[in-house]
Amino acid sequence: MKESEDRYPFLKACRRQPTKYTPIWLMRQAGRYMKEYRALRKKYSFLEMCKNPELAAKVTLLPIEKFKFDAAIIFSDILIPLEPMGIELEFAKGEGPVFHNPIRELRQIEKLRIIQPEDDVPFLMDAIRTVRQELEGKVPLIGFSGAPFTLASYMIEGGHSKNYIFTKGMMYRNPMAWQNLMEKLSEVLIRYLNAQVRAGAQAVQLFDSWVGCLSPSDYENYILPYSKKVIDGVEKSVPLIHFATDSATLLERMKRAGGEVIGVDWRVNLKEAWKRLGYDVAIQGNLDPIILLSSINLIEKEVKRILDDVEGRPGHIFNLGHGILPNTPVDHVAALVDLVHEYSSR
Ligand code: CP3
Repeated sequence: MKESEDRYPFLKACRRQPTKYTPIWLMRQAGRYMKEYRALRKKYSFLEMCKNPELAAKVTLLPIEKFKFDAAIIFSDILIPLEPMGIELEFAKGEGPVFHNPIRELRQIEKLRIIQPEDDVPFLMDAIRTVRQELEGKVPLIGFSGAPFTLASYMIEGGHSKNYIFTKGMMYRNPMAWQNLMEKLSEVLIRYLNAQVRAGAQAVQLFDSWVGCLSPSDYENYILPYSKKVIDGVEKSVPLIHFATDSATLLERMKRAGGEVIGVDWRVNLKEAWKRLGYDVAIQGNLDPIILLSSINLIEKEVKRILDDVEGRPGHIFNLGHGILPNTPVDHVAALVDLVHEYSSR
């Protein structure tokens, strides 16, 4: 670790070093639960905001100015690198992301481009550089990408999916196409994450949000080699957080794929999850985001329960088990951050 990074509890916890208190940030902290964000969204579309470095930097900093978070995450989306690969992306109102040309066959995969992030998504690198300047001496900045499976599922299904019929269909029935797509995505993601590190990201998170739909043996055969390839390919100068949801059955295998930190959702007990993973890896999580919609009393109870499960071990980063919901009260977010800092203070 560089000397200048020594003072950041978040980076220290990623490396399992003792900290004065447990660091906290929240997945999706740069977004819709903040009125300042909603005001900007009245003027610009979501993709316009992602592609404008000044706006992306501004949104990244909004939650840092308002709350005492221990890390910032760059405002962008896991789907951003897919557009320059040759996928037409649209965020339809109320529906989430939609692709009008889903990838179903090998000949489509062969046409997908391996991107050059500095040329193809320069706005992201510019946003990271701007944010780093603004944050110097305050908190570190996290870059991120989707993991190969989660991105493949969006490309193949054409949007969000319930049963992943087309994705699993390709995985089981068309190994040539599957391998080709996963190889290409792995190559793109290594370049994409390393470009973010070069631009100034001080940690990176790999989001495998939908991988929990797979059996452990399918994860092992069809996913683990590619996630591992991406993780192995990322600069070792920054810690990598390997996150998935619905991953209670996959934790040991996720660890084999790699990451200094494993991100877990609320469906596992943190104490049990860490024991299974082993204490040679850091852990991130795992408050149910819905708890933030309840009361400060209940938030406090859950914070204490989770922190008690950690038993004072270094290497815990407090987070939600998945992204913060749009209708979360901001005073509950502020209370959560204070509660975590106070209760864990040593
Ligand atoms: O954490 C952060 O605040 C950084 C920014 C960030 C966004 N998306 C901004 C966003 C991050 C890290 C993501 C990751 C992401 N995007 C994931 C993985 C994390 C997870 O929640 O599982 C996924 C699956 C996506 C894909 C995606 N982007 C969906 C399904 C949607 C629509 C539904 C939703 O959750 O909003 C988006 C849009 C999106 N990405 C918004 C934001 C702030 C909302 C856009 C808007 O309407 O203003």
